[in-house]
Amino acid sequence: MNLTCAHRSTTTFFGMLPSAKDRTQPTVVFIFGGSGDLNYRKLTPALYNLYIDGFLPERFAVAGIGRSEYTNEAFRERLQGGIAEFSRRKEGPWDEFAPKISYLKMDVADDASYAQITKLVQTCQTDWGVEPNVLFYLAVAPQLVPGIATNLSKLSFCHNHERVRMVVEKPFGHDLASAHELNVLLGGLFAEEQIYRIDHYLGKETVQNILALRFANALFEPLFNRNYVAEVQITAAETVGLEGRGGYYESSGALRDMIQNHLLQLLCMVAMDAPTSFNANEVRNKKVDVLNAIRPISPNEVDQVAVRGQYGSGTVKNKPVPAYRDEEGVANDSQTETFAAVKFMVDNWRWYDVPFYLRTGKALTEKMTSITIQFKEAPKLAFPAEVTAESWGSNRLTINIQPAMDIRLSFQAKRPGQVLDLDPVEMVFSFKGAYEGQEPEAYETLLLDVMLGDATLFMRADQVEAAWRAVTPILEHWEGHKLAELPTYAPGSWGPDAAHELLTKDGFVWQ
Ligand code: BG6
Repeated sequence: MNLTCAHRSTTTFFGMLPSAKDRTQPTVVFIFGGSGDLNYRKLTPALYNLYIDGFLPERFAVAGIGRSEYTNEAFRERLQGGIAEFSRRKEGPWDEFAPKISYLKMDVADDASYAQITKLVQTCQTDWGVEPNVLFYLAVAPQLVPGIATNLSKLSFCHNHERVRMVVEKPFGHDLASAHELNVLLGGLFAEEQIYRIDHYLGKETVQNILALRFANALFEPLFNRNYVAEVQITAAETVGLEGRGGYYESSGALRDMIQNHLLQLLCMVAMDAPTSFNANEVRNKKVDVLNAIRPISPNEVDQVAVRGQYGSGTVKNKPVPAYRDEEGVANDSQTETFAAVKFMVDNWRWYDVPFYLRTGKALTEKMTSITIQFKEAPKLAFPAEVTAESWGSNRLTINIQPAMDIRLSFQAKRPGQVLDLDPVEMVFSFKGAYEGQEPEAYETLLLDVMLGDATLFMRADQVEAAWRAVTPILEHWEGHKLAELPTYAPGSWGPDAAHELLTKDGFVWQ
C-alpha cells in the first residue's frame, strides 16, 4: 500500500529554507586537506551543487590548502575530476565556478605560511568592498588539528566570533580523554559558537526527517516511549571493506568509526524529547540529555551487551574480498573490530528498560542504514488462537535512511476471503515517490548551515564527550582483553553469530 502525500515543494528542513539564498554572506572558505580525498569526493562537489542551486553568495571564494605542488589551474582540473566521478550533477556551469577556486601550498606546521591566508582574506575584502565571512574546514588527520587551530588563532581576524567559523571533521578525539583535551584546546582558542564538529549523518535528508516525523505529527510521538515500544534497532551496514584506509581504520575500528558518532546520533534522534524550538542549543540540549541518560556499562557486563567481529576472506556480491588482516596497512594479528553490535539502555522515564540495539560492520551483505522501532504486542484476545498462532505480528515502524529512503509502518490486516486470517501489511511513505528531483547531499546541507551560522546539526563539545563516555567501558574492556582469536565473520554475511545471540537471548531478532 502506498501513501501518497500532499506537499509544498520548496520548503525543506532546518537551514534550507528558501530564504537561505538571501542569507549567506560574502564568504571565503579555506579547506585544509585541499588535495585530499574528502575535498575531492564530497566538499567540492557539495559547494558546486550549492552554487548551481543558487545558495552560494555571489562574492565567494574557496582555497584548497595542502603540501602538494599545484597551480590554481591544475588544482581546479583535479577537482573537476571529483565532480565527474562523485557529484550528483556532472554537467553544469563548471567554467563559471572554477575561477572561484584557488590553491595555497602550505606547511601547516610553519606559522609564517599562514600569512597567505590573511593575504587572501584581505584581497577578497578589497575586491568585494566588504569584510567577508571566513570558514576554515579542517579535513586533515586528527593529529594536525591542534597545530592548525593554534596557528589560526594567532590571525587577528579569527577572533571575530560572528564572521569566522571552523569545521572539524571526525574523528573528534580517539577516546574520551583525547576528545576532552581537544575540546579544552579549541575552547581556549575559539568561542564554542565558532566550532562546528561535523557528523555527516546529521546532514542526511532522511535523518533530518526523523524530527519531522516525530515532532510534526500528533500520531507518532505519543507512541515513542516505554509504554508502547518493545525495542529499537539501528543498523548501518556496509558492503565495502577498507577502501585503502587501513592506516586510519586499524587504530579506529567499528565502535569508534561508526557507533560513537553516527549511530549514537541516530539513537538521539529517536530517543530525544521534543525541543521547544529549533534553536541549535535547544535541539542539542535534548540530544545530550539522551546521551547522559545512557546506562553506564560495567566492565563485567561488556561481554553480555557488546559483540565484536572481524571479516575473514570471502566474497561480497560475487567480488572477492581479502580477509581484513590481509588488507594493506593492517597487522596480521590485528584485533581491530570491523563489526560491532551494542545494546544500550536509556535510563529515563521515557525509555527505561527499552533496549536500543546498534550494529555496524564492513563487508556485510548489503549497504543499508535503517532504524526499526518495534512496538509491543497487542493482546490476542479478540481472535481465535489458531488465527493468532502463526501470523500475529506486532506493529513496526521502519525508517530507512539509505539507500532506500522511506518510512514503513507495518500492521495486521485481514486477508480477503471467507476464512478469518491475519497478515502483516505495510503503509509506505517513499521520498522518491512523493518528491521530485534529487535531494541534496549531506555535505551540501551541512556546508550551507555553517555558512548560515546554524549549528543545530553539529556536535557541541559536551555532546561529543557524552558520546565517548557511552562507549568508553566497551573500548576499555576490548582493549584490555585481547582475544587469542577475534570472532570472524564471512564477508557477505550479517556479521558474527554472537550478534544474533545478543538479541535472541532477549527474545528479539534483527530485522
Ligand atoms: C564514515 C566512516 O564516517 O562514514 C566510514 O569513517 C564509513 O568508515 C562512512 O564508510 C559511511 O558513511 P555513509 O554516508 O556512506 O553511510
